Amino acid sequence: MSRVAYVNGRYLPFAQAMVHVEDRGYQFSDGVYEVCEVRGGRLADERRHLERLRRSLRELRIAMPMPLAALEVVLRETVRRNRVRDGLVYIQVNRGVARRDHAFPPPDTPPSIVVTARSLNTAAAEKTAAEGIAVVTVPENRWDRVDIKSIALLPNVLAKQAAREQGAKEAWFVDKDGYVTEGSSSNAWIVNRNGKVVTRPAEHGILRGITRTVLLDVLKEQGLDLDERPFTVEEAQAAREAFVTSASQTVMPVVRLDGRPIGNGAPGLLASALRREFRRHSELT
Ligand code: PDD
Repeated sequence: MSRVAYVNGRYLPFAQAMVHVEDRGYQFSDGVYEVCEVRGGRLADERRHLERLRRSLRELRIAMPMPLAALEVVLRETVRRNRVRDGLVYIQVNRGVARRDHAFPPPDTPPSIVVTARSLNTAAAEKTAAEGIAVVTVPENRWDRVDIKSIALLPNVLAKQAAREQGAKEAWFVDKDGYVTEGSSSNAWIVNRNGKVVTRPAEHGILRGITRTVLLDVLKEQGLDLDERPFTVEEAQAAREAFVTSASQTVMPVVRLDGRPIGNGAPGLLASALRREFRRHSELT
């Protein structure tokens, strides 16, 4: 089955899904994006993803390309046309097409929008979760506004590639004080020796992950001990468990950090339980 993308008002076969050479997303990374999980043909936590999209756009002074209700229809239609039951829907909004000039284009320049959807192999994801993933650390070298889900992801791309080249699935950025900020495409968590769940506060230095937000609700409901504070690489290496969260992986156990096993080197019991529990808490619409 051929894939279909929504591009600036039209559903197009992938082979014809193009953006203009002077699209500011292409030339300046002047845009934002969202990735939302699709489960059983429904969107997981769509409301929160769209709220974050609006915030990212607001912070960069890019207009919403269409009313929210229309965007909700486009997301569903893209999922339907691609026959995705379990997978991801991707939204990207750029500042639009204009003659190349760093400063903002004329205010009547319409923002451009692309929506795609694709299936994920859930069996393969469960197998990965049963084994856990390896993580390596890299120096934090991103700009100060990582709270905005911007498409400017070059440091994240290089970090992920560094992980791949070391046989790992994710890279954790480490700030100049030795604290883990977040993964190249996920938020970072540990469970320390006292059974406390530790994750960095979202006020500074990380993207406020939707999976993270939902998981905080799960922790609260389960009465689990949470310590929202930064943690160091040494603490992570001495931790009982570690895991990452993102829309594409939900809760994914981490079993190695920079080549050293975490805990007994197997996925943690709490991380695995949270992975199961997370599914019950997502808002499916
Ligand atoms: N990544 N931090 C970064 C840098 C991310 O790119 C992501 C998501 C997260 C987790 O956010 P959420 O739980 O809302 O997915 C944290 C997406 C999935 C991606 O780039 O593919």
